[in-house]
Amino acid sequence: MQGWVVPPPKTPEKSKEELRKEREEKVRWLIRHGYLRSERIKDAMLKVPREDFIPILYKDYAYLEVPLPLPGENATISCPHSYPLFYEPLGLDKGYKFLEVGLGSGYGTALAREVVGLEGLVVSIEIDPLTFEFAKENLNNAGYHDIVLIKGDGGLGYPRMSPYDRICITAACTEVPSPLMEQLKTDGKLIAPIIEYGIQNLVLFEREKKGIRKKIICEVLYVFLKGKYGVGGSAKWITKGF
Ligand SMILES: C[S@@+](CC[C@H](N)C(=O)[O-])C[C@H]1O[C@@H](n2cnc3c(N)ncnc32)[C@H](O)[C@@H]1O
Repeated sequence: MQGWVVPPPKTPEKSKEELRKEREEKVRWLIRHGYLRSERIKDAMLKVPREDFIPILYKDYAYLEVPLPLPGENATISCPHSYPLFYEPLGLDKGYKFLEVGLGSGYGTALAREVVGLEGLVVSIEIDPLTFEFAKENLNNAGYHDIVLIKGDGGLGYPRMSPYDRICITAACTEVPSPLMEQLKTDGKLIAPIIEYGIQNLVLFEREKKGIRKKIICEVLYVFLKGKYGVGGSAKWITKGF
């Protein structure tokens, strides 16, 4: 799989209305291409303006299928299709307690909050202090005040709020950090990009009473997980700007 080509920074020119139309078109595209199926995830993607979670000089690219840089070291907002790619197999739904490792921009967190609704809970952990502050401000500005935001190593999870119905790791690791598997409910699901033989596969794990069931979804390309269970070194995921 090739790296991504990130477009050059530029002063934003698109109006809110233009971006709203692009968002609607993106949702239609995600449905047509089979990424987006459930009503709740579709409604969340229509509701949350992705541009509000992107640094100003990249806002016009909000609906391009490319990850964009964020403040912090190797932090990115993932491409738009990544969110249904992760959340559909997870079966993310109303009322769930959801843990996200890798808050990034806060966009995926806001989508998850819309999906789980008032009956659910979203906890998200970010290791990079700059990225954490960026996401926190984005979520505050967007009016999300009931998400539990933790600055620290997500590989350790957040036992205080465990067990979780669903866990999502948004950075690549060689195996699922053991504390995260321990904090997953029986019958819960966890999704993560897993590195094996130099490639990354998005893998869905289901914790059953008798063990863990694994299903490979597809090949992906994510920044590496840092911290105690991290990979060490950063993924060479950007080829060059144009
Ligand atoms: C692909 S980005 C996440 C994108 C995010 N879902 C969004 O919507 O913007 C991966 C994030 O994981 C963070 N990260 C890497 N290792 C981490 C760790 N051990 N704990 C918490 N966050 C980590 C990175 O700093 C980066 O912000």
